[in-house]
Amino acid sequence: MCGIVGYIGKNNAVPILLDGLRSLEYRGYDSAGVYVQGVGCIKSVGVIDNLEAKIPNEYNGVAGIGHTRWATHGEPSEHNAHPQSDESGRVFVVHNGIIENYREISQLLTEEGHTFSSETDTEVIAHLVEKFLNDGKNFKDAVVEMLKCIKGAYGIAVACKDKPDELIVARMGSPLVIGLSLDEYFIASDPSALLRHTRDIIYLNDGDIAVVGSAGHRVFTLKEENVDRKISRIDWDFETVKKDGYAHFMLKEIMEAPTVIENSMRGRLLVEQGSVKLGGIQDISEDLRSIKNVVIVGCGSAYYAGLVGRMMIEELAGIPTVVELGSEFRYKKSVIEPRTLVIAVSQSGETADTLEAVREAKRKGALTIGIVNTIGSTIARETNAGVYNHAGPEVSVASTKAFISQLVVFALLATFLGRQRDLSLMAGKQIVTEIANLPEKIMRILSSREDIKEIALRFSHYQNFFFIGRKYNYPIAMEGSLKLKEISYIHAEGCGAGELKHGSIALITPDFPTMAICLQDSVYEKMISNVQEINARKGPIVIMTSEDTDVSFLTSDVIRIPHVHEILSPILSVIPLQLFAYYCSVARGLDVDRPRNLAKSVTVE
Ligand code: M6R
Repeated sequence: MCGIVGYIGKNNAVPILLDGLRSLEYRGYDSAGVYVQGVGCIKSVGVIDNLEAKIPNEYNGVAGIGHTRWATHGEPSEHNAHPQSDESGRVFVVHNGIIENYREISQLLTEEGHTFSSETDTEVIAHLVEKFLNDGKNFKDAVVEMLKCIKGAYGIAVACKDKPDELIVARMGSPLVIGLSLDEYFIASDPSALLRHTRDIIYLNDGDIAVVGSAGHRVFTLKEENVDRKISRIDWDFETVKKDGYAHFMLKEIMEAPTVIENSMRGRLLVEQGSVKLGGIQDISEDLRSIKNVVIVGCGSAYYAGLVGRMMIEELAGIPTVVELGSEFRYKKSVIEPRTLVIAVSQSGETADTLEAVREAKRKGALTIGIVNTIGSTIARETNAGVYNHAGPEVSVASTKAFISQLVVFALLATFLGRQRDLSLMAGKQIVTEIANLPEKIMRILSSREDIKEIALRFSHYQNFFFIGRKYNYPIAMEGSLKLKEISYIHAEGCGAGELKHGSIALITPDFPTMAICLQDSVYEKMISNVQEINARKGPIVIMTSEDTDVSFLTSDVIRIPHVHEILSPILSVIPLQLFAYYCSVARGLDVDRPRNLAKSVTVE
């Protein structure tokens, strides 16, 4: 989604801004722009290279702001790209989020004589600041007054020609960080954009306003009360977000799965006690002992991880659990009892729908925990407690390694909750031991990726696909179909295999293939019956099954994965589906890491 960068210091801001924008490219965008004090504003549609090509040599200065825009209000175009400014070009602003009352404001300002030149909601910010400057306020006071007028979600950075030695930023619902170095400040919506320059970061909270510049920095609220935001040190490396020789981030991230699992479980398995230790929920461990029901919230892949998590929690801990889409949770009546635990699942920790669900759950008195990958993100900070995934930065828009780590964390959490209740020592030991063995099994799947590639090449020309599974692998069928849709643009549907005959099977023809997850588990026989129904209607089939299982009577397109405890099987079965989607996308010549219309971090509701 949109990205913000800013710089003020002693060096040329232009390469710093462009470099920062490039590191935010993965979030998805359709236009970009920069404003540099003293030399003006340049914008372009399309990739950052288009913007850079428009920048002349003499364009440089020591302070500026930049933006990558993912269109919400108004088509992708230069006049809608950010920075947006007032008519006189006195104030420039970059903005992530949505100003909900921009129509009312622009109408009022129009009546006062302002003329708007874009279709964006953002432009009102610049006009409002200019209006308050004209009323005689200084830059800081004009921004504060503007913030009192706007409603909605924002992360903004503002520059003003009258005050070239200051930038002002503000956050409400859209992430923003300040990076600090000697005599210079960096601004970004995502810390990864700053890593080349500094590791010392201030995470702003909702309601924070900050002035940075030659006089240092100050963080305060709309009521002008100073707030003390501590400086956090980032300990992950920029190198970890490079491709490491792989053609795409997505493949690199899938190949990292064994390491990701090791990181997710490091120091957490208590094999002898058949349990796990989760430092992030230690403080609420007694509260967890008495919870009566669980509500899991997430979006997209995180929601599907939640569906698996629900089965794990119900099976190992016996706690009634439901799963809600983040986008639905706050708009329907959700039953939150005094002892309800709400688990928010999010790779980015910034997904607006999931974040708002957390806030709603807290308002209703639920205990909240986050299963979050991005350290220091808003959901991680706003939940009562949490378990970090430790998957490392995920760059490709399609979630792969983060999804796997979400499943691992759910397995750990369900075991923990189970051992607080009726799960036996032996059963706990078995699960924990099987979790410890997952990396080796995943390595075996990854080493067979050429076979998966071959199948993908043969199937990548189809326009439609079913993914079917049962029980633990029903959510994985849905996740497999989402992966295929988002990066290969093949229409795909994930179905419970038993549901097919209730309607969807009408679509089966020789042109409509199915990927069936038929592992040697409690639903194997049922799965095989469902596949036979497809076979009888001449639908092409790929079967994913367990090692040593003969399915040659149904198809010759077979993917095999190692045997594993049924509860943990999604952690293995999703990997061939991620690889399948990846190779289909490559075969179709698509932009794997940055699929059309999608953003990595969805910070609007
Ligand atoms: O950052 P989050 O985990 O909260 O993101 C949730 C979804 O937007 C995300 O999983 C999305 O569905 C991915 N594109 C899936 O690959």
